[in-house]
Amino acid sequence: MTQDPADNWKHWPQGWYAVARADALRPGQIHSGHLAGQPWVLYRGHSGTLHATDAFCPHMGAHLHNAQVCGEALVCGLHACHLLPQTAAPTLPEHIKAGCRLAVRAWPSAEHFGLIWLHPPADSIPPLPFAGSDGCHHWLAAGPQAVAADWRAMICNGFDLEHMKAVHQRQVEGEPLFERLPENGLRMTYRTRVLPHGGLSSWLMQRLSGGIIHLVHTCVGSSIMVQSRVGRFRTSAVFALLPQDAPGTRPEQRRSVALAAIGIPHGARWSTLQLRLARALYLAFLRKDFRVVEGMRLQLQHTADVGVQAVAAYQHTLADMEHRS
Ligand code: FES
Ligand SMILES: [Fe+2]
Repeated sequence: MTQDPADNWKHWPQGWYAVARADALRPGQIHSGHLAGQPWVLYRGHSGTLHATDAFCPHMGAHLHNAQVCGEALVCGLHACHLLPQTAAPTLPEHIKAGCRLAVRAWPSAEHFGLIWLHPPADSIPPLPFAGSDGCHHWLAAGPQAVAADWRAMICNGFDLEHMKAVHQRQVEGEPLFERLPENGLRMTYRTRVLPHGGLSSWLMQRLSGGIIHLVHTCVGSSIMVQSRVGRFRTSAVFALLPQDAPGTRPEQRRSVALAAIGIPHGARWSTLQLRLARALYLAFLRKDFRVVEGMRLQLQHTADVGVQAVAAYQHTLADMEHRS
C-alpha cells in the first residue's frame, strides 16, 4: 500500500504556537497547557510583562497553575518557594528549603497580533511567524474556538482551491503563484471571483470588491496568514492552530483549538467599525470551513489540487518537535 502524503506531516511541527489571546491574561493571572506534551505555565507579572516557564516547581514538582504571582515571580502553592524564570538552564542546590528563591526554566514567549505565542526552550529559536507583518496594523483577536477537526485538515483547507466554489461560492481566477519563503514558510497568491448565492457575507463582499478579491495565503507551521484586497479595503488575518491530541490519534478523532487575529492598516478610516466588520466576515467564512472539516479523515493521495499539494509538500519538510507526555 502506498503511503498517503498526509502521513508525512509532523503532528507537532517545530515552531511557535499561539496559545491564548493577549487580552485574556491580566496581570497576576496564570494559564497552563502543553506543547507536544511539554507542560507550560504562562503568567503576567504585576508590571504587565509576560512570562512563561516549565509547569512544575523545581522543588518537589507541584504544578504551578496553583501558584500565586508576586511581582514578576511565581510563589509555589506547596512550600512557598519564589520562582524566577531564567533563560539559561537553572542549577539547583542539593537541598531546597521551603520559601527560598529558585530559578525556573523560562520558555520563549511573545505577544504578536494580540495573541500570545510560545516556543519550547531550544538551542535555536526561529523568528515569530509572519514577523514584520504586524507593524502597520490594528489587530482584533478572536477565539479560542475548539474545533473537532484535525489541524492538518484546516491547514489544507486554507490552500484548497477546489473547495472555494462548493463551500464559499468563489471561483478561482487565473493561475495561483507559489513561493517558498526564506524564513521557512509557503506563500500562495491568487484571485477569486465572488459567485452569487453565497449568503449575506458573499453579497457584501461582492458589493465591496466589485467582484474580484486578491489574496495572499502564507503558511508557517500550523498557522496561516491571509492578506486580502477587497476593492480599496486591505485586511490581514492570522489563523493559528493548536493540536490537542497525542500524535497517534486517528485523524477523524483529532481536535484542535483555533485562535485568530484580524488586522487593518494604520490610518484606516473608521478603524473600529472596519475591524469589527472584517472580523465578522472572516468568521462567517471560517464557520463554513469548520462545518466541512469536522470529523474529516484526511487523505491526500487522490487530490489533484495544486494548493493542497504545495502545502503538503511544505509540511513534509518541517522538523518534528519532540513529543513527551
Ligand atoms: S513543590 Fe514548590 S515549593 Fe515545594
Ligand atoms: Fe475554506
